[in-house]
Amino acid sequence: MKRTVILAALLALGALPAKADEGMWLPALISQRIEDMQAKGFKLSAEDIYSVNQASLKDAVVLFGSGCTGELVSDQGLLFTNHHCGYSFIQRHSSVEHDYLKDGFWAKTRADELPNPGLTVRFLESMEDVTEVVLKGYKAKMTEEQRQALIDKNTKKLLAKATKEGNGLKASVEALYYGNQYFLFIFREYRDVRLVGAPPSSIGKFGGETDNWMWPRHTGDFSIFRIYAGADNMPADYSEANVPYRPKRSLKISRAGVKEGDFTFVYGCPGSTQEYVHSEAVKYIQDVSDPEKIALRTTRLNIMKKYMDQSQAVRIQYSSKYAGVANAWKKWQGEEKGLRKNHVVPVKQAYEKRFEEWAQGTRFEGITRQLANLYAARNPIYRAYEYYRETVLTIEKLQMARNPRFNMKDYYQPIDEEMFVAMMTAFDEALEDVYKPRFFLERRSQYSSMEAWKDAVFTFDNEAKALSEALNDFFTTTIAPPVAELNKSINLVYRDYMQGQMEFEKGKTFYPDANLTLRVAYGHVEGYRPLDAIYYDPVSTLRGIIEKDNPDIFDYNIPQVLRDIYARGGFGSQPVCFLATNHTTGGNSGSPVLNARGHLVGINFDRVWEGTMSDLVYDPEICRNISLDVRYLLFVIKEIGHADYLFDEMTFAD
Ligand code: ARG
Ligand code: GLU
Repeated sequence: MKRTVILAALLALGALPAKADEGMWLPALISQRIEDMQAKGFKLSAEDIYSVNQASLKDAVVLFGSGCTGELVSDQGLLFTNHHCGYSFIQRHSSVEHDYLKDGFWAKTRADELPNPGLTVRFLESMEDVTEVVLKGYKAKMTEEQRQALIDKNTKKLLAKATKEGNGLKASVEALYYGNQYFLFIFREYRDVRLVGAPPSSIGKFGGETDNWMWPRHTGDFSIFRIYAGADNMPADYSEANVPYRPKRSLKISRAGVKEGDFTFVYGCPGSTQEYVHSEAVKYIQDVSDPEKIALRTTRLNIMKKYMDQSQAVRIQYSSKYAGVANAWKKWQGEEKGLRKNHVVPVKQAYEKRFEEWAQGTRFEGITRQLANLYAARNPIYRAYEYYRETVLTIEKLQMARNPRFNMKDYYQPIDEEMFVAMMTAFDEALEDVYKPRFFLERRSQYSSMEAWKDAVFTFDNEAKALSEALNDFFTTTIAPPVAELNKSINLVYRDYMQGQMEFEKGKTFYPDANLTLRVAYGHVEGYRPLDAIYYDPVSTLRGIIEKDNPDIFDYNIPQVLRDIYARGGFGSQPVCFLATNHTTGGNSGSPVLNARGHLVGINFDRVWEGTMSDLVYDPEICRNISLDVRYLLFVIKEIGHADYLFDEMTFAD
């Protein structure tokens, strides 16, 4: 109990000013940050951001689908998110006759808005520190198993109470700071969400993979949806009788724009960060995981690209898969570089040395060595785990052998045959034989070459099935369980190491790592210096789109109408995107970017490549989030979509 008290005291130290603009803060505890926010320009109160008694900004923010954020922009359930967050839904409504991905989509009336089975949005009703309830009955002499059983039991009761029959609520209890604090989150989830508008991909995905994670950026990355509810405004299955949802709160839109230095904050659902890990964890990512995965994905991307360049049909089949592989591939490159450039490993090592000196004679003594030993034990098998996922488990022929519902529409066998040879070879060469199933080793000695093995697998379904099952079974029974066990042990030590770090650095503010729960990040509009002698301005304009425009380059081929508008004159300085210092990560896509008065000025959609190590360490000099300027969204709605009837239901602050 005493420990809990100390920890509570340490967590309350959140009131100290944060270094620069780092941090993803819990909205319910934002009162601890509010003075710092106000000192940096924020004009509202903590209650405006989060309140359980009255409507607040939190009521205008949703978890969109399973991993994006969206925001309410009218009292009739209108919602903005990113184009790349709506992409798969836009794709599902597209056909050769109506190619909404290519041409865009604008519902002229409510009746034209398109339903999306499976798509949900979640509003946060409330969040609450339940650490004491979750740990109720805990005794210091309990084993870890007993402790966990107690937590499970207490959590179950909490959830049952929060979601009691008929209230239509969902709830979850999330561990923060590696299980040092627990929060109960209560949600209301709506499941009739319809597509209202999307720009053509040549605007919404302008720059494609070439510009992804990069600045200067000119992507009109937005799409528009509407939430529908039953007549009682409560969640309902899709029905023609449903009506537009009336939110407790929607955002006012600012047309005043932003300039360098302006205060901004991002309200959304960041997915995952690891800011407090040991140097060995970083070293593994920087020296092993990132470089190896990058190399493997380079091979896969080259194979896909070769065939996509030869055929438009193959390009369409593989564009979404390609984007998925390329997105992390490019992020990891920025991350690896950033970790090295910032000397994160030696800096963490020096920190650990100071920590151990301080920890002598306390219960924290030796904890960093303990972590180093655990990583040494985990890394070889974890590397094998990652290899499975990046090589043999990506082979589509082996996936379809196990999965009768495999999507054959987007399958092109010549790509997969080359993938088979390349990925099986990489897997075999990189891993010791102990990490491979017996069946694999037997077959390897029977076939004269990987080519011959490939021919057999692609000719005889039995052969594909046998290999697929052997690899998959070995992975799930022999590779994944020890990895899970070791990670569990590591996280247990982090629970103490986290407390140790908080006691060691009493003057530092700790925010919980991201876990897809609602957070507020705040900062200001600012450019950065990617390299010596280069300064990047924080605002991009339509002029830059015209500079990039090239009908021969797929990623830069803009719609003719945009060329015509530019040629007519008057729109050259139309703002398109901007940079700010808000600390964001994957999951923050689609998040509202708000100004000092809480008005919508942008939609977050990316980070700069040089700053992607912010998932492990945030460098205020270089970490920037990239947002769509809301004025470009309005421009595209009006000039490209001719859908400015949508403005009638929006509220403009200025
Ligand atoms: N990089 C952004 C985010 O991480 C945008 C992703 C859109 N996808 C793409 N491959 N361009 O996820
Ligand atoms: N595009 C990312 C997403 O889908 C956001 C970029 C980032 O990782 O910060 O959430």
